[in-house]
Amino acid sequence: MKKVRVIYWSGTGNTEKMAQAVASGAKTADTEVTLLSVAEATAKHVEEADYLALGCPSMGNEELEESEMEPFVNSIASLVKNKPLVLFGSYGWGDGQWMNDWTQRMKDQGATLVDDSLIINETPDDEGLKKCRTLGMQLVK
Ligand SMILES: Cc1cc2nc3c(=O)[nH]c(=O)nc-3n(C[C@H](O)[C@H](O)[C@H](O)COP(=O)(O)O)c2cc1C
Repeated sequence: MKKVRVIYWSGTGNTEKMAQAVASGAKTADTEVTLLSVAEATAKHVEEADYLALGCPSMGNEELEESEMEPFVNSIASLVKNKPLVLFGSYGWGDGQWMNDWTQRMKDQGATLVDDSLIINETPDDEGLKKCRTLGMQLVK
């Protein structure tokens, strides 16, 4: 079984809904999928993952959430080299700059971005949830 770890931060539940859909898309007969809030996640979850999905909304001023997600992403910098990875998150009024920056950061650390990063405005609708499931499927393909 290939290990899939979906790790997210969510303040009002939008990115959490995305994370649940990504996790369900990644579930196949050959994958073991674990969905974790970043508060529950450890570096070991990342280390052991065959496939990794990370989710965080746009916070601050086009930034990752600063108290939990930013330190976590920073702490796994040396673990993501060659790791098949996708990024996702919800946003409000911005242009998605936080996700562009995050995507480039993970590429610079050597992660293998297997699909375009997915951003969804506020609460994902059915179409948005479908995109999340597709992202999960692409991750483990
Ligand atoms: C403190 C704070 C800062 C935010 N900053 C941004 C921002 O810079 N750009 C943006 O597009 N949305 C911003 N948002 C909106 C959130 O990204 C948006 O509401 C998102 O759906 C929240 O996702 P969540 O439900 O997973 O927490 C901000 C929201 C909060 C509460």
